[in-house]
Amino acid sequence: MAEAPWYAPFAAWWAEAEAHEPRVPDAMQIATVDADGSPSLRTVLLKEHGPDGLVFYTHTTSRKGRALAADSRLAACLHWKSLERQVLAEGRVVPVTATQADAYWATRPRGSQLGAWASPQSEEIADRQVLLDGVDAAARRFDGQEVPRPAGWSGFRLVPERVELWQGHADRLHERRCWLREDGVWRQVLLAP
Ligand SMILES: Cc1cc2nc3c(=O)[nH]c(=O)nc-3n(C[C@H](O)[C@H](O)[C@H](O)COP(=O)(O)O)c2cc1C
Repeated sequence: MAEAPWYAPFAAWWAEAEAHEPRVPDAMQIATVDADGSPSLRTVLLKEHGPDGLVFYTHTTSRKGRALAADSRLAACLHWKSLERQVLAEGRVVPVTATQADAYWATRPRGSQLGAWASPQSEEIADRQVLLDGVDAAARRFDGQEVPRPAGWSGFRLVPERVELWQGHADRLHERRCWLREDGVWRQVLLAP
């Protein structure tokens, strides 16, 4: 079986989701495991994808970043309601290269870049003014120059070991196509709904 056999079917669904899912088709829920074994979940945007995995960007010092530093396992879910489709992916993350993170960072609007400098993501803050002051401080600091990528802001690539494409059908007879990588070898199975 070819390398990453799940990817071509995923990419076809992605194209259809971009065309037909009107609200945030790139919203992806990701579940991590904290150091004490408890799960936690949040939404991120799936920014890049390829046969080598699914990439999202975040603060590496955030709760999710700390969890991934301790345990690189990640489960992800995309739900395209308009298409009655769900994609599940499970595996481990690897950090993207600094070059890749820089390239994505450069595409972000300046306001988002300043916001990233201003937000100690996942930390408790006294009030919203903390963020507004942080944006002002960053704007002054980088006045007249490009905003550099903060050291604690980068991307992770989920390298899947299991991918499931779920298509809703009538009478609950949904289709679940699943790709599993075992001992380095992919196999495809069909799961009961
Ligand atoms: C639609 C949507 C997209 C989001 N995209 C991102 C994202 O790409 N990166 C990110 O760090 N947080 C994103 N967030 C915020 C996260 O859900 C979360 O609140 C934040 O990353 C902190 O999570 P943590 O404390 O578990 O680390 C998004 C939230 C929503 C609702």
